[in-house]
Amino acid sequence: MLDRSRLPTHLGIIMDGNGRWAQQRGRPRVAGHRAGARAVRRVVRECRRLGISYLTLYAFSAQNWGRPRQEVEGLMNLLGEFIAREWQEIMRRDIRVIQLGEQRKVPAFVRQRLQALIKTSRHNRSMTLALALSYGAREEIVRAARRLARRIASGSLAPGAIDEASLSRLLYTTNLPDPDLIIRTGGEKRLSNFLLWQSAYSELIFSRKLWPDFDESDLQRALREFQRRRRRFGLTDEQRQEKP
Ligand code: IPE
Ligand code: IPE
Ligand code: MG
Repeated sequence: MLDRSRLPTHLGIIMDGNGRWAQQRGRPRVAGHRAGARAVRRVVRECRRLGISYLTLYAFSAQNWGRPRQEVEGLMNLLGEFIAREWQEIMRRDIRVIQLGEQRKVPAFVRQRLQALIKTSRHNRSMTLALALSYGAREEIVRAARRLARRIASGSLAPGAIDEASLSRLLYTTNLPDPDLIIRTGGEKRLSNFLLWQSAYSELIFSRKLWPDFDESDLQRALREFQRRRRRFGLTDEQRQEKP
């Protein structure tokens, strides 16, 4: 059974397998992304219902810009539609939306809609939905390093003052806790440039289900597996029991 008191505070999901889902049906890849958007709706609802505080969805990587133009355009159109369609429900369910990733690269019609939703939902408190969109973890770390370097160059920061906290604050995930659990659908066992810094001690669960087929019961199964894991953070089990 699922223990509602031991859910991950922050769940990250690498939503992979849309293209294969479509190919299996002899349909264009964009049809898979459309079906993937329905899975997003299901999973967001379920996380909100369960009381997960932070949900990060890897929707589009910095590297995904290199895909065929038609697919990128299709994905961006779907994203624009998704924001418009889900707006009311997001507000009704008291969900705060944020973006992780490079805003400038996102086409204006999506960027404007997303920025408006981010602004409108900023005081919502029941759940934070972080969309990793035009997101790359290495790009994120490089950007933080550049900002630190600028502060050092201007004399406002000493190199010795750089620590994990000061670097973390300059990542897109400022103020988000590290993900406790990362689920990747679609069968691949890799992170593909997702939250590399933040996932240092995340539990990883790989599902063979293609993202459009991933549903509430798959999510619950993954959460139950998470609850069976023992997290040690470098310490021993005995130490962990002394200081929970
Ligand atoms: C994940 O599905 C969605 C995005 C990367 C945007 P894919 O499109 O990568 O699907 P597969 O991995 O090719 O099946
Ligand atoms: C990771 O999937 C990115 C998203 C799910 C948005 P990819 O399909 O881009 O990853 P690779 O290419 O298989 O590593
Ligand atoms: Mg893929």
